[in-house]
Amino acid sequence: VAPFAARLAKLGPPGELAAALLTKVAGSGAVRNGPEIPQAVGSLGAVAGQAFFLPLYDLFLTYGGIFRLNFGPKSFLIVSDPAIAKHILRENSKGYSKGILAEILEFVMGTGLIPADGEIWRVRRRAVVPALHQKYVTAMIGLFGEASDRLCRKLDKAASDGEDVEMESLFSRLTLDVIGKAVFNYDFDSLSYDNGIVEAVYVTLREAEMRSTSPIPTWEIPIWKDISPRQKKVNEALALINNTLDELIAMCKRLVDEEDLQFHEEYMNEQDPSILHFLLASGDDVSSKQLRDDLMTMLIAGHETSAAVLTWTFYLLSKYPKVMAKLQDEVDTVLGDRLPTIEDVKKLKYSTRVINESLRLYPQPPVLIRRSIDEDVLGGYPIGRGEDIFISVWNLHRCPKHWDDADVFNPERWPLDGPNPNEINQNFSYLPFGGGPRKCVGDMFATFETVVATAMLVRRFDFQMAPGAPPVEMTTGATIHTTEGLKVTVTRRIKPPVIPNLEMKIISDSQENTNSTPS
Ligand code: HEM
Repeated sequence: VAPFAARLAKLGPPGELAAALLTKVAGSGAVRNGPEIPQAVGSLGAVAGQAFFLPLYDLFLTYGGIFRLNFGPKSFLIVSDPAIAKHILRENSKGYSKGILAEILEFVMGTGLIPADGEIWRVRRRAVVPALHQKYVTAMIGLFGEASDRLCRKLDKAASDGEDVEMESLFSRLTLDVIGKAVFNYDFDSLSYDNGIVEAVYVTLREAEMRSTSPIPTWEIPIWKDISPRQKKVNEALALINNTLDELIAMCKRLVDEEDLQFHEEYMNEQDPSILHFLLASGDDVSSKQLRDDLMTMLIAGHETSAAVLTWTFYLLSKYPKVMAKLQDEVDTVLGDRLPTIEDVKKLKYSTRVINESLRLYPQPPVLIRRSIDEDVLGGYPIGRGEDIFISVWNLHRCPKHWDDADVFNPERWPLDGPNPNEINQNFSYLPFGGGPRKCVGDMFATFETVVATAMLVRRFDFQMAPGAPPVEMTTGATIHTTEGLKVTVTRRIKPPVIPNLEMKIISDSQENTNSTPS
């Protein structure tokens, strides 16, 4: 069992109890020769009760790009400087592990790609990355379109019934449906109804978030962990998901065995283009447990992140009607009434900038977690082995010295004819998908997914904050959630008539005598 204080300090908002224990321990961690890292002091009690990365922003403005924060005997280094972030993530990535993150996620991801370190990570990364090749991501555009269309139909009904909708949970369902099909060819169909497996996924996710924000690790207390109803429910949920994944793996193995297989770099089974099918067809020599860990990791990594991006994008669009108007203009021109193709997505340049900018203001996750494996020097300060580090992407993305009007949603800050912003061309001041060898494997997938969903929704509907909706505030789990949902009023857009075709359309409609619905 990890020491209480270390648990206390894990990841999230420490809560009342933790805040009371939050103390300044002068000189802790400063065991090396050389200048000492600035230590944050003062109003740390303010950390309680709000998204934990927010007070880190004020401390960054006071103490700079690297400072130390103490929780009882435990301390953290908070990094908000692009050069130091680049050093940790890229230049000396081998000197850092996932630390606390791996400990928290072990129960659900095992040694999947996100928590894994060292040799296991290296082998699994090499196996998984090729599965997300260009042809696969292109094929996924169709899946994004179909899933978004299902959501449109749901919203259409709400618009007819005059009912407000809560978009955060709908986006969570949309991205669950997408990632299930994309990773292991399973249709959760969570936009249509709740079933046992959908419920099990949410129980597991909530548990992971609770563990990352809870001051006391009740799930590690010997007898309690066996009799607690909550833990029982989590274990049942995990067992259900694991059994389902085992069945899917077995089924896919049979399909691959029966296939007349010619494996090559861009191999894809047309009926089942999933990552699982690719991995099995590639002859990936891996235990079923490791394969399950990797599938589970991708399910979680690609689910809540994309959902959070969509949630905050629509929140921002509701606040910036001029951006919304420009976005709808582009979507009308490029998409017409079709389901998007890869060619369309490439033309949706302003839509892509909207997502880029949403990811700047609301990075998912807002901090990256590392632990030093060896001594190192960060920003001129020597650090010891075993230092827990939070790289605050939130601070990097809102640094007032780097960004003009850092808090303003301004997709125009990146020209349409310029390159897509990423950590390389922004020199680690912007890293929505991380950087270095552990960069997100699903960056292109996720960008296309969120662009397609956004485009399809704004093409059909206008979105306004619902009258009387609670204020939209932030809280943290693994990603940034709203405290009380994103409640909006959806109205169908009245599209301007397309003049050149109008006459023909009227004639053909009357000739067909209402047999077909005009598109
Ligand atoms: C890693 C963000 C979608 C799979 C990461 C990291 C970030 C990130 C910041 C780096 C974490 C770190 O360095 O500690 C996002 C965002 C997404 C998204 C914002 C959606 C908008 C996806 C999707 C998949 C995926 C769709 C799978 C298909 C992964 C995996 C890793 C990862 C496996 C771990 C890579 C490694 O450690 O080698 N993601 N991600 N992500 N992501 Fe994503």
